[in-house]
Amino acid sequence: MVVLTLAERASLIGPLDYKVLKTVYELNSNYEYVPYSAISEELGLLDRELKEVLLKLYDLRLLSKERILKEIGYRLTFTGLDILAIKKLYATKILKNLGIIIGEGKESNVYFGYNFSDETVIVKFHRIGKNSYKNIRKIRGIKYKEDWIKLTVKNAEREYKALDCLYNNFGNVPKPYGQAYNAIVMEYVQGTELYRTNISNPEEVLQDILSTLRIAYTYCDKIVHGDLSEYNVLISEEGKPYIIDWPQWKREDEDLLIRDVTNILYYFNKKYDIYKDINQVINYIKG
Ligand SMILES: Nc1ncnc2c1ncn2[C@@H]1O[C@H](COP(=O)(O)OP(=O)(O)O)[C@@H](O)[C@H]1O
Ligand SMILES: [Mg+2]
Repeated sequence: MVVLTLAERASLIGPLDYKVLKTVYELNSNYEYVPYSAISEELGLLDRELKEVLLKLYDLRLLSKERILKEIGYRLTFTGLDILAIKKLYATKILKNLGIIIGEGKESNVYFGYNFSDETVIVKFHRIGKNSYKNIRKIRGIKYKEDWIKLTVKNAEREYKALDCLYNNFGNVPKPYGQAYNAIVMEYVQGTELYRTNISNPEEVLQDILSTLRIAYTYCDKIVHGDLSEYNVLISEEGKPYIIDWPQWKREDEDLLIRDVTNILYYFNKKYDIYKDINQVINYIKG
């Protein structure tokens, strides 16, 4: 079987396919697998037409299906969710084209993309993995009924919200351009992760990181990153740090703030021999 890229799959989806896919997404909040009859009732298409579209969406692996009693039920896949996002980002003029994949994380796939001014952007598709789903539910106290589609979309919304506030208050984060479903489009930071590079201006970089944490806390309603480390800081070619990967932020969580700050201070101490008093730093961040 030929494996199509996400961009190729997106190009095969016409308006009617999109409409059916979106309907399944919406009905998935009522059904784990949406019965054929419910989709048909919602859309009022001819049986032959609807069956053809569903088969195509299934063949492209945008839907999965399962027999429920006497009917077939349909459910959006992660790829299906990605496609909805791409189509919406295109319609809202945020993303013109999707490029190649640059990273496959545990909970996201990151791609290059191109906006309508043909600038390179980053497209991050959230994916709450099946394995981590249980843990996330435990950690975040999410109620059982909430499923991965909703959680994944919620994560993208959360990350966008944090980036938006931080960027608007001059925090060192990539500029967010837009969000749809599980995807965020943001500025491409050309550079490398902090852990993979030797910086010549560590004092300055650390200060920029801490001042961004302060902006999050004092201007963005007490947001704490929650997963701060040398892996989630990008250093641009000009040597400026950008804090990325914000979906798990929490509000006013002192323990989490201490953990974040400890991580980053430890790294700068170990690698660059810079020492800062943790209590002073925490007080500075809290304003
Ligand atoms: N704005 C960006 N510019 C350049 N690279 C990025 C950007 N955002 C993410 N990346 C790359 O993608 C990787 C994963 O992104 P991240 O937001 O940390 O998600 P994950 O949850 O998968 O760790 C990053 O480590 C970085 O290499
Ligand atoms: Mg990360």
